[in-house]
Amino acid sequence: MPTLPHVHVTTDAVTELAVDALVVPVFRGAIEGPGTDTALRAVGLEEVPRQADFRGKPGEVLHLAAPGQPWGRVTLVGLGRLDELDPAMIRRAAGAATRSLAGTATTIATTLPLVETSIASIRAAAEGALLGAYRFDEARSEARPYALTDVTLVVPSSLSERASTAVTRASLHARAQCVARDLVAMPPNRLGPEEVANYVRDHLDGSIEVEVWDEDRLREERCGGLLSVAAGSARPPRLVRLRYRPAEPVASVSLVGKGITFDSGGISLKRPSTLMDAMKGDMGGVAAILGVFSVLTELQVPVEVHAELCLAENMASGSATRPSDVVTFRDGTTVEVMNTDAEGRLVLADGLVLAAESEVDAIVDLATLTGAVSGAIGAHAVGVFSNDDDLLRQLLTAGEDAGEPSWHLPLWEELREGLESDVADLRNIGDQGRGAGASVGGLFLRHFVDGTPWAHLDIAGPAWRDKDRDHLSRHGTGVPVRTVLHWLEQAD
Ligand code: BES
Ligand code: MN
Ligand code: ZN
Repeated sequence: MPTLPHVHVTTDAVTELAVDALVVPVFRGAIEGPGTDTALRAVGLEEVPRQADFRGKPGEVLHLAAPGQPWGRVTLVGLGRLDELDPAMIRRAAGAATRSLAGTATTIATTLPLVETSIASIRAAAEGALLGAYRFDEARSEARPYALTDVTLVVPSSLSERASTAVTRASLHARAQCVARDLVAMPPNRLGPEEVANYVRDHLDGSIEVEVWDEDRLREERCGGLLSVAAGSARPPRLVRLRYRPAEPVASVSLVGKGITFDSGGISLKRPSTLMDAMKGDMGGVAAILGVFSVLTELQVPVEVHAELCLAENMASGSATRPSDVVTFRDGTTVEVMNTDAEGRLVLADGLVLAAESEVDAIVDLATLTGAVSGAIGAHAVGVFSNDDDLLRQLLTAGEDAGEPSWHLPLWEELREGLESDVADLRNIGDQGRGAGASVGGLFLRHFVDGTPWAHLDIAGPAWRDKDRDHLSRHGTGVPVRTVLHWLEQAD
């Protein structure tokens, strides 16, 4: 479990707060936000100091010494344009501030939630502060300096009663997201399919039912997709089945996760020059689901939630699946594996069949499925595919509420022909000339849900990033944990 600071709320004046750093907002054009004037005057400044690298742009940070004041430092943080302010900017600013302070300040306070009178801003400030403070040090012999234990949010007095509940929920969302980050960060030699199953047994609370299918069981259950992807690896595959049952569920859903603990491409090997280390993040879907499951009980989510975690390692060896091999899935569908690097859809197919068998109201799969999704909509956004308009709308709304950008992408029927095979029911890649690789992946998955309302979240872009930015950390970001939590909490 990641260590994160505690978040408190207060309605006290900033002059009453004794902290190592007081974080105050500045809008683009050096326009002062709430509390900024007081803080600047206390350190002897009339206005925001003009600096080339601090103009109030989103995420910019400037530290000022504050001798003789109740705060060790005043930290100015950029919020961007005043007329474009929204909770997402507050989340970013809070994240940028804690990212730059977490190593040195033990206690901080911020007036960021005062820039807008809304519960959404308070939540955003809490989430941003926690997410920006995240570190992964488990694989170091010595952890890097980390000081931050307490974050105090100065909130509008009209919202003070509702603020603590909001902060509690926001903290659970952020913690869940950091659980997902930790799992992605774990090096693949230490976290294969079996180790993920062990993690689940050791970390999920007792109220979650856990079932683990090993290789023999997977064979008995005819999960040919999982077995074929794992065939080239020295590590056997696992299917982990989870169930969270609240007392009187208002609905039931199944989350299906792609859990490739490392994706080398298999015999269709990825070019070694591509930054293949990112492929330890190819279990981002499973990591997000485990983040979600880590807080379902505490959030008292009113929905019955199942999960099918499809875990395998995709490696090249003498026992690996060959391009042109034909694989039989749990529902009897046969697939000609034309490219062993399109492995996510092969492990997910069995999981989707199982989810459909469990007769839930909706299935949502989470997968780092295609590079093509980033080409289509950018690496920052989740691609959302669905066979059901209601479910689609719910998920897009949840993404907006969570501040995790997502965009609807099509499942064009025209592209289905590309998945026709000469020798089997389907092939696992489309004909490359037609493009739309992310949609082709979605169409392949749709075949296995048997008409159940279903959505596919292609998270290949936003689940991983090369650089830290604001509340989002380098490498695993834990996207789209908060989207899924918002969706589950909104269910009726
Ligand atoms: N895991 C990759 C997709 C991916 C790419 C995730 C970049 C994150 C960043 C997936 O298994 C894959 O290799 N997809 C292929 C599909 C192709 C062979 C049809 C791709 O995107 O090139
Ligand atoms: Mn692949
Ligand atoms: Zn993959």
